[in-house]
Amino acid sequence: MKTDVIVIGAGAAGLFCAAQAGFRGRNVVVLDHAKRLGGKILMSGGGRCNFTNMYASPENFLSNNPHFCKSALSRYTQWDFIALVNQYDIAHHEKTLGQLFCDDSAKQIVDMLLSECQKANVRVVNRCPVEGIEKTANDFVVNTGNGQYQCESLVVATGGLSMPKLGATPFGYKIAEQFGIPVTPVRAALVPFTLHDEDKEVLSELSGVSIDAAASCNNTQFNESMLFTHRGLSGPAVLQISSFWEPGDTVSFDITPAADFTEKLLALRNSNTNSLLSNVLNEWFPKRFVQTILAVFGIDNKPLKQYNEKQLIAICNRFNDWQVKPNGTEGYRTAEVTLGGVDTDYLSSKTMEAKQVPGLYFIGEVVDVTGWLGGYNFQWAWSSGWVAGQYV
Ligand code: FDA
Repeated sequence: MKTDVIVIGAGAAGLFCAAQAGFRGRNVVVLDHAKRLGGKILMSGGGRCNFTNMYASPENFLSNNPHFCKSALSRYTQWDFIALVNQYDIAHHEKTLGQLFCDDSAKQIVDMLLSECQKANVRVVNRCPVEGIEKTANDFVVNTGNGQYQCESLVVATGGLSMPKLGATPFGYKIAEQFGIPVTPVRAALVPFTLHDEDKEVLSELSGVSIDAAASCNNTQFNESMLFTHRGLSGPAVLQISSFWEPGDTVSFDITPAADFTEKLLALRNSNTNSLLSNVLNEWFPKRFVQTILAVFGIDNKPLKQYNEKQLIAICNRFNDWQVKPNGTEGYRTAEVTLGGVDTDYLSSKTMEAKQVPGLYFIGEVVDVTGWLGGYNFQWAWSSGWVAGQYV
């Protein structure tokens, strides 16, 4: 079958790009091996899809070339996508930090994308594994489990490696390499940390506890919450910093519960109170956490008045800079995204077309552009998909 455009991958980027190309009158087919379309979108945001972020800007993305994402993000912005969501009457709300979620269900976003494709006469074919690509003089030949397709423009929107059970494959990277386009080193990002046995033994008792924390690593800091799990550490602050963490690095957590924490403890001590340190800390932290963290920090639990000023300041400093050395991450099994990907030096930032392979485009997560947690990765899918859709 011959068509103008083939998009491999019916995820966020692929479906959105296909609809834009279809609206331009291009004959478009989207191929995906999954049974269910938009699997990741359906799972996202706890089933409510954090579909964009009101404050999205190039600073929220990691890439070997931090300038690459600027063009696409400025030509199709979060406000453009929000306008589309409004056009479909999808009720949504800001959860925190500009993160927009559907009030009801992520399925509304998938339905919207499929409806856009339908309006643009795009054919979406599921259960269609793409097995290989060949290039002829003018066309691409796409070999699939369901036969052969031929097209002028080929869009690779196969995503990254995270969550193989949702259909993730390295296929996009293989296509890049086949056409001589390098792929920067990839690793799991926005992913929980696992701990060394000695830390795990103590901290797994806190499974389910969440506290506010500022997580820092490699000159980057995120102020959000952290969650203790039976395997290690998770929660927004941890997922965010995991994208900046390299094996062997230590992460510093500032878990100071209030700006005037030290002053308050000193004032209480000076008031000659009989309160135990743990009782005072219980005002700020979950009880279960206090017992464990005092043990982790090796702090004796005594009435406040029994510590001298220097000792209390030293205690506060432990809360200010709790150093944890993760053993690793949970990997692609639970990672939200893949860091790294198709080398942006080889792509046009205006069109997403491969500079040396006319007609071949890469969009979405397969490209070396990775967003922070908070709707940024979907915004990259929409923006990169939209720009490619104008040129394919
Ligand atoms: P995506 O992975 O969505 O799609 C790729 C498609 O290609 C898949 O449908 C796959 O089946 C198909 N494919 C792969 N190989 C193939 C082959 N050989 N043949 C045929 N088809 C093939 N981001 C965000 O901004 N807000 C959020 O709330 C969340 N939440 C979230 C939760 C969870 C659990 C995960 C795993 C991820 C998120 N993300 C997120 C990240 C976000 O989902 C992700 O960045 C985008 O879905 C990437 O979109 P793409 O279209 O690039 O790839």
